[in-house]
Amino acid sequence: MLITFEGGEGCGKSTQIKLFEKYLKENNIDYILSREPGGTPLCEKIRTLLLENKEDMNAKTEFLLFSSARAEHVEKVVKPNLEAGKVVVLDRYYHSSYAYQGYAGGQNLNELKAITEFAISFCVPDLVILLDINYEDGFARKSMDEKLKKLDRIESKGKAYHDAVRKGYLKLAQEEKDRFVVIDATKGVEELSKRIIEEFEKRFIHRMHIKEEYFKKIKSGEKNYEVRLYDEKRKRIKRGDMIVFQNGEREVKRYVDNLFTFSTFEEMLDSVPAKNLGFSSKEEALDVYKSLYPKKGDLKVLAIKLKNEKNQEKTNKIKT
Ligand code: TYD
Repeated sequence: MLITFEGGEGCGKSTQIKLFEKYLKENNIDYILSREPGGTPLCEKIRTLLLENKEDMNAKTEFLLFSSARAEHVEKVVKPNLEAGKVVVLDRYYHSSYAYQGYAGGQNLNELKAITEFAISFCVPDLVILLDINYEDGFARKSMDEKLKKLDRIESKGKAYHDAVRKGYLKLAQEEKDRFVVIDATKGVEELSKRIIEEFEKRFIHRMHIKEEYFKKIKSGEKNYEVRLYDEKRKRIKRGDMIVFQNGEREVKRYVDNLFTFSTFEEMLDSVPAKNLGFSSKEEALDVYKSLYPKKGDLKVLAIKLKNEKNQEKTNKIKT
């Protein structure tokens, strides 16, 4: 899962990322934290070029440099870690470019988007935390130390620029409602952190891209087994854990009653009746699981027996 933190100057991003990292550590969630521009030695060099260069830089050059650092970072850091099943936390990603170089810098957004798509090759965030703050509050928040230090090239662009950054971010959030969570960054540190964790857990606990009809079956209790691919994360699911099935805004909570592992879907279907998975026949179950996981047919399978929420005394959320 890819989660990014975005926001204008002084929005408290660094503090919130630190608290979020603490939460991930305490909950044994495998993660990596990286930043943009940066994340590899080459990207850090591009970062120095971008932020410490005193020469006037053409806006297109600026954006292309951000994009080249991004392309490198996605291939070397983001994708491999996502593929390894980790939560990837990024301090800024391409939405920064849209807000800063696009909305505030006046570059054509459609062009920026086309180049970004090329740079990130479909690696889009599952969740964007936007810490929203206005220019005055943001700069007032910067510590005396930071104010005394020379502002970097982008920070020193003035109120009109940073107002446009903020507006741009809010517009992006409006356009990508499912991805963005906009948080009022003037609220207290603890309150903000709690909200971020809640939003993360909502998406993270157990996301199922399931078809409407199977979601209904889980809801009605007609389906009392769930099937997942077997990997290191899933192995941590244990009896009593809560699984949240999500379909859009709707949620169904179920508790894990038992776990069974199998080498293939076929093998599983010899032991778990198709009916308990919400299908009319074994053939139908196979068709659906193969369409959900087309390339992963050879991975091991975990069948999870589900229990109704009502019957559960102890709540034990899973962090998979
Ligand atoms: P940084 O020191 O990381 O600041 P912050 O704590 O505000 O994140 O500096 C990153 C600066 O680069 C910040 O002013 C935003 C800007 N930026 C862009 O203009 N476009 C981009 O695509 C990215 C990733 C950052």
